[in-house]
Amino acid sequence: MFSTIRKSLLATTGIAAMGLAFSATSLSAETLDEVMARRGLTQKDLLAAAKTYTPTGKRDEFIVFSSGGQSGQIIVYGVPSMRILKYVSVFTPEPWQGYGFDAESKKILEDAKVDGREIQWGDTHHPAITETNGDLDGEYLFINDKSAPRVGVVSLHDFETQQIVVNPILQSEHGGTFVTPNSEYVIEAAQYPGVLGRGFAPLSEFNEKFRGAVTYWKFNREKGRIEPENSFSIELPPYTQDLSDAGKLVSDGWSFTNSFCAERYVGGIEKGRPPFEAGCSQNDTDYLHIINWKKAAEVANDPAKVKIINDHRVIPLDVSISEGLVYLVAEPKSPHGVDVSPDGNYIVVGGKLDTQASVYSFEKIKAAIDGGKFAGKDSYGLPIIAMEDALHKQVPLGLGPLHNQFDSKQCVVYTSLYVDSQVAKWDYCEGKVLDKISVHYNIGHLVAMEGESEHPAGKYLIALNKLAIDRFNPVGPLHPQNHQLIDISGDKMELLYDMPLPLGEPHYATAISAEKLKPLVRYAYGTNSRTGEKHPDAVRPGSEKIVKDGNKVKVYMTAIRSHFTPEIVEVEEGDEVEFVITNSERAEDETHGFAVSTYNVNLSLEPGKTATAKIKADKPGVFSYYCTEFCSALHLEMEGYLVVKPKGFQEAAAPGAEGQAYTKADYDKQYKTCVDTQAVIDSVVAYIVSTDFQSLPEAAALVEDATDQLKFADEAKAKAEGFAAKEDWQNATLWAGQWWQYQVKAADIGLRAKNLLDEKGVKPKQ
Ligand code: CUA
Repeated sequence: MFSTIRKSLLATTGIAAMGLAFSATSLSAETLDEVMARRGLTQKDLLAAAKTYTPTGKRDEFIVFSSGGQSGQIIVYGVPSMRILKYVSVFTPEPWQGYGFDAESKKILEDAKVDGREIQWGDTHHPAITETNGDLDGEYLFINDKSAPRVGVVSLHDFETQQIVVNPILQSEHGGTFVTPNSEYVIEAAQYPGVLGRGFAPLSEFNEKFRGAVTYWKFNREKGRIEPENSFSIELPPYTQDLSDAGKLVSDGWSFTNSFCAERYVGGIEKGRPPFEAGCSQNDTDYLHIINWKKAAEVANDPAKVKIINDHRVIPLDVSISEGLVYLVAEPKSPHGVDVSPDGNYIVVGGKLDTQASVYSFEKIKAAIDGGKFAGKDSYGLPIIAMEDALHKQVPLGLGPLHNQFDSKQCVVYTSLYVDSQVAKWDYCEGKVLDKISVHYNIGHLVAMEGESEHPAGKYLIALNKLAIDRFNPVGPLHPQNHQLIDISGDKMELLYDMPLPLGEPHYATAISAEKLKPLVRYAYGTNSRTGEKHPDAVRPGSEKIVKDGNKVKVYMTAIRSHFTPEIVEVEEGDEVEFVITNSERAEDETHGFAVSTYNVNLSLEPGKTATAKIKADKPGVFSYYCTEFCSALHLEMEGYLVVKPKGFQEAAAPGAEGQAYTKADYDKQYKTCVDTQAVIDSVVAYIVSTDFQSLPEAAALVEDATDQLKFADEAKAKAEGFAAKEDWQNATLWAGQWWQYQVKAADIGLRAKNLLDEKGVKPKQ
């Protein structure tokens, strides 16, 4: 009997053979040499595999946050395994995580509207992790939207977007997001010039009315929020500003933004004019903007020195000139990346249409500024520093140098070469090329581990290639992107792995040591995850209720394996219904979903989270709702009905009973099953408590969860026995069945704990 129950228990919980028995496995007879021959692998391939393969249960050393391009999301993956771990939705809805579906996240997307318009995509470009003293700290992450233009704030405590701010003056941007060394400000520089405030002027007045700008968003670390009211911008000439970087150490307090199309050319092929691409690359040089942001932040506090556009402080060009906030220096034509070296003294610029990278010395720039030594002024009166007075070195690298990332090795930088499809490793102090490697193909950005910080971690580099062409199995004309992992630990770079990424064109990525990230396992009970605060409408099991106020119905619901409470919600046609649901689980990874048919509802409820689905019940009918995460063996039974009664509907006075009827014999049978099951549970519990399970926090958490389930089992047992005493066999049988469900869950968790203890070698105490 014992074994029959055990078998049925194990089968029901879907964990047959776990922990208590072993199934025979046939060992592969193939040797390593045979596998190599069969798959055509070389020794080099095996070495690359050994450097990247991550066995089950093992974790990655670094975590990469890649822009998700046009998807408006962020892609999170591990290095060296290149295994994708998560997509974080920022500017666009994402159903699995309920982002853009629950009322809490809809509010964030509401704030993301541009001039009252909903933007249904996002052109994410450059993610940046918060820094403390110039090093990545893993607390928050920012990402920009080039098109809209917006900045999203993601909490790395739970990997959820918590805020989106819309730039009040720019029409498009590109040079964001870059943070200052203590994340005081998040830098967002314009791209295509426009009328500040998104107003109108004819293109014939481009030189006079069109402008660029850099916005410095004030970040409040304690609140984890950007403060628009404490942010400001600096007006710039219409030079099509591009990428930016913040100074560090010696150059702390300054920021650098390059540009292309300093020609201020306006195309018009249809008018017979040469296209933008010709007019914007006519001159040999564009301008690097050198901005004293620390001083600018002080100037912005003087109301006499700013103009207010859309409630936002903007420092006009004439103030920047008189206060000495902005300087220009020529840079080779159409540059792309501008990257400040770890020691803060060098600014490396890749001149896209030049074969060389230019290394500027901050010391020299500062000397020119302090000495008032300028080559002249631009048409707007901004002082220009002569290139020779600012340059440290120019180093020929190859065709199409774009972006730069720094190594942990002194003076070593890696630059992507777009046209050559290569990465150049070179010494920016001495000005010499050290190594080159081919990538596949047409590399844009590249990312080295913590390569933008004061203390780069080295080890790996990832090439973010614009074209994949022939690298992967064909999937139609639209190819996946190709992120290529390169080993940079030795003198020669070695290509290790190709990862296809099928989610938008990822522009830039940032990589942080995994141990710096300390994400939550579960939320504090009843948390609104989109704000991080306690949800006012969260309820505990036992306190669920349905409150009607006129045509407003609020359902205070809980979700726990494997039922929602309440399960039947009856409303009238036309009612406004709010489901506020709290996942009452404390167990790791026990997420429930909540979907309502027809009404476009899908929530994700991680343990402890409270989220709201709002619907207008304007279509009468009986709509099933159910859990969308496979949370337990009884997941399919995690269901309910939203009954929307047609206007004027009257239920018959004596409705017939639904479903099947049960007898005393049914009750006795179920009762016996429960008693037998308890014996199995007792044996598992006895085993677990004979070990030092408390020494393994994951096992201790499972035991705590199992104990909870057994408490619920006891409550159901008491109800069953209560109804049996009244000879109500219907309710007695069903409550006995519920008692058994809780036992099954407890057993499932108990066996998982036992298995974990075995795996980690925690044996019974003698
Ligand atoms: Cu809860 Cu499936």
